[in-house]
Amino acid sequence: MPTVLVTGASRGLGLELCRQYAAEAWTVIACARSPDKAPGLAAIAGVRREALDVTDRDQVSDLARRLSGVPIDVVINNAGIYGRRDAGIGCMDFAEWEQVLRVNVLAPFAMAEALLPNLRAGGQKKLATVSSRMGSIAEASGNAVPYRSSKAALNMVMKCLATELAGQGIAVAVLHPGWVRTDMGGPGADLSPAESVAGMRKAIAALDLARSGQFVNYDGKTIPW
Ligand SMILES: NC(=O)c1ccc[n+]([C@@H]2O[C@H](COP(=O)([O-])OP(=O)(O)OC[C@H]3O[C@@H](n4cnc5c(N)ncnc54)[C@H](OP(=O)(O)O)[C@@H]3O)[C@@H](O)[C@H]2O)c1
Repeated sequence: MPTVLVTGASRGLGLELCRQYAAEAWTVIACARSPDKAPGLAAIAGVRREALDVTDRDQVSDLARRLSGVPIDVVINNAGIYGRRDAGIGCMDFAEWEQVLRVNVLAPFAMAEALLPNLRAGGQKKLATVSSRMGSIAEASGNAVPYRSSKAALNMVMKCLATELAGQGIAVAVLHPGWVRTDMGGPGADLSPAESVAGMRKAIAALDLARSGQFVNYDGKTIPW
């Protein structure tokens, strides 16, 4: 069966991604900052758990070393943070903004770079990143400047990687999960994690080089950049 690696697997969408892929008998490599403190993850049988703070370059290198020679079909950059919701003019926490950029932008690039040999060796050769519609410049409104700017930058990073990696047969998907009832999305959101992840998994399954570098909603529709 194919192998998938998921970051931010302790809770929310990352945990549900692990659950659904494991239920279909995929080999799942679940990366979480503190896997031993993630009871939801411990409850999924047969998952390989790896400790990973995605912003820690040494931890990323160590993970790549531990996974040396392991083919990975699908790498999913899911870990993300939001920052203050009211961040804007007059109330910006610049240190927090920098952290949002480290988690949401720099880390997905670092993961892609570190795991490139694994993706090259994998059968499916797919790099998927959970972004957000809030990163769409075409649809932008005010508020949440750190989060919006980070996801817009993330989209550009992934678009660049789609171009750069096409020659190696690696396809790149930029996904919007919908508004989902997780700690980040809150209890009033539209979708359950199960619904969102089922949709994103379908989009990942449909990903090929012809569709690489597109910004895709959980329901498969394309989103304007
Ligand atoms: N929920 C929504 O409505 C929605 C909408 C659009 C996009 N998204 C995107 O979907 C992705 C998942 O969000 P979610 O709703 O599942 O959020 P969540 O419930 O807040 O979970 C966030 C996950 O990211 C992990 N994480 C944060 N910083 C990390 C770091 N430095 N290293 C490793 N892991 C880290 C968290 O780990 P810990 O448990 O260790 O904190 C947690 O597993 C994010 O990229 C988010 O931007 C969500």
